[in-house]
Amino acid sequence: MVFVSRVLPFLVVISAVAAQERVYQGFNSGAFFSSNKPKVQSDFEDEFNAARALHFSPGTFSSVRLYTNVQTGTTNTPIEAFQAAINTNTSMLLGIWCSGTTTISNELAALKSAVDKFGTKFTDLVIAISVGSEDMYRLSESGIENNAGIGAGPDTIVSFIREVRTAIEGTGLASKPVGHVDSWSAWANSSNEAVIEEVDFLGMDLYPYYEKDQDNRIENAEAIFEDLHNRTLSAAGNKPVWITETGWPFDGPTSGNATATPENSKAYWDTIACKYLGRTNVWWYNLRDTNPAIEEKFAVSKAVSAETTFNLTCAAGSGAPATINTDLSKGVSSDKKDGAAQLMGSMGMVGLVAVLSAVFML
Ligand SMILES: *[C@@H]1O[C@H](CO)[C@@H](O)[C@H](O)[C@H]1NC(C)=O
Ligand SMILES: *[C@@H]1O[C@H](CO)[C@@H](O)[C@H](O)[C@H]1NC(C)=O
Ligand SMILES: *[C@@H]1O[C@H](CO)[C@@H](O)[C@H](O)[C@H]1NC(C)=O
Ligand SMILES: *[C@@H]1O[C@H](CO)[C@@H](O)[C@H](O)[C@H]1NC(C)=O
Ligand SMILES: *[C@@H]1O[C@H](CO)[C@@H](O)[C@H](O)[C@H]1NC(C)=O
Repeated sequence: MVFVSRVLPFLVVISAVAAQERVYQGFNSGAFFSSNKPKVQSDFEDEFNAARALHFSPGTFSSVRLYTNVQTGTTNTPIEAFQAAINTNTSMLLGIWCSGTTTISNELAALKSAVDKFGTKFTDLVIAISVGSEDMYRLSESGIENNAGIGAGPDTIVSFIREVRTAIEGTGLASKPVGHVDSWSAWANSSNEAVIEEVDFLGMDLYPYYEKDQDNRIENAEAIFEDLHNRTLSAAGNKPVWITETGWPFDGPTSGNATATPENSKAYWDTIACKYLGRTNVWWYNLRDTNPAIEEKFAVSKAVSAETTFNLTCAAGSGAPATINTDLSKGVSSDKKDGAAQLMGSMGMVGLVAVLSAVFML
C-alpha cells in the first residue's frame, strides 16, 4: 500500500504527459520541382531545415505533408523525403497518390520497404497516412471547370483506404490514423459521405483566394474560411478535421476579387495561421513553390532560407505559439547547429522518461 501511494503521483504525471496530444505544424512538399525534376534527399533536407529556421516563426515548423511514398522516376522506391525527415527529426503526414490509377500497390510497396529499411526511426515520425489528395474535388463540378485533372470517386477512395489498413496491419504503422485529404467542398458534398465514415481524420484544403464565386477580397477571407471550415466540421461529425492546405499567394493573377500581394499574404497569415497554429494540426501552403500546375506564388521562405517573403510574427494575444528565431543574423546553416543542440537536449528528456518508465514497469 505504501508502495502504491508513493508511486501513484508519478504514474499520474507520466500518463498525463503521454495523453497530451501533440499538435503538428508544417508545410506541404511535392515530390518534384516545377521543371518536373525529382526532389532528392538534400532538397528535402534543405526544406525541412529552412522550415525550422524561419525568421519570427510562431512555434517550430517541424512537420511535413507528403503526397506520395514513391520517389519520382522510380517504380516503388521509397521517396527520399523519408531519409531527410529522419535526419532532421521531421514528423510526416504521409500521402498515397490515388488519382489516375486503379492500383496503389507501388505506393504500398514503397511504404513497406521504408518500414523494413528504417524501422522505428521512420514509423515514430509518421503522424498519419492520407489516402489520396483532392481526388474527389477533381471529379466535382468545380474541379472539372478548373481542369483540375483526373480524380477518383468516393468508392475508389474507400476501397484504397481499406487496402491501406490491411497493408499496415502487423507493421510499425498499424496504430497510425488513416484518412483522406480533400477540398472543403468535397467533404461538404453528401455524395462523398462514405469516405467520412471510413476515415480516422479529415484533411481539409481551403483557400478563400480561390473562392472566386464569393466576394473574396482579403477583408472577407476570414469569414469565408470560417464558413467553409464550419461546413467541413459539420460534415465530419465527431472526426478530427486537420488543416492540410491553406495559404494566400503573394504574387499571381487575381482570383475573383482576391489579389495576390505580400500584404495580403501577411493579412491572411495574421487571421488564419495565427488563429490555428498550435491548436489544430496545420500544414501551410507553402514553404516553397514547386507546383508546375499553378501560376500563383505562395512561398513563405525566400529561396528555401530562413528569410521570409512576409512578416510571420503573430500579434501578442493571438494564442499562437511563441515567436522563435528572432536573431536575424542566423541563417539556415547556423540554425542547423542549433537543431542538433536541441536534439541532444531532447534526447536527454527521452532518456529520463525511458528510465522513469522502466523503473515503474519493473
Ligand atoms: C459531389 O460529389 C460527387 C461524387 O464525388 C460528384 O460526382 C459531384 O459532381 C459532386 N457535386 C458537385 C456539385 O460538385
Ligand atoms: C467583387 O467586388 C465587386 C465590387 O465591390 C462587387 O460588385 C462584386 O459583387 C464582387 N464579386 C462577388 C463574386 O461577390
Ligand atoms: C463557425 O462556427 C462557430 C462555432 O459554432 C461559430 O462561433 C462561428 O460564428 C461560425 N462562423 C461562421 C462564419 O459561420
Ligand atoms: C510584424 O508583424 C507583427 C504582428 O502583426 C507586428 O507587430 C510587427 O510590427 C511587424 N514587424 C514588422 C517589422 O513589420
Ligand atoms: C524529435 O522531436 C520531437 C518533437 O519535438 C521530440 O519530442 C523528440 O525528442 C525529438 N527526437 C530526438 C531524437 O531528439
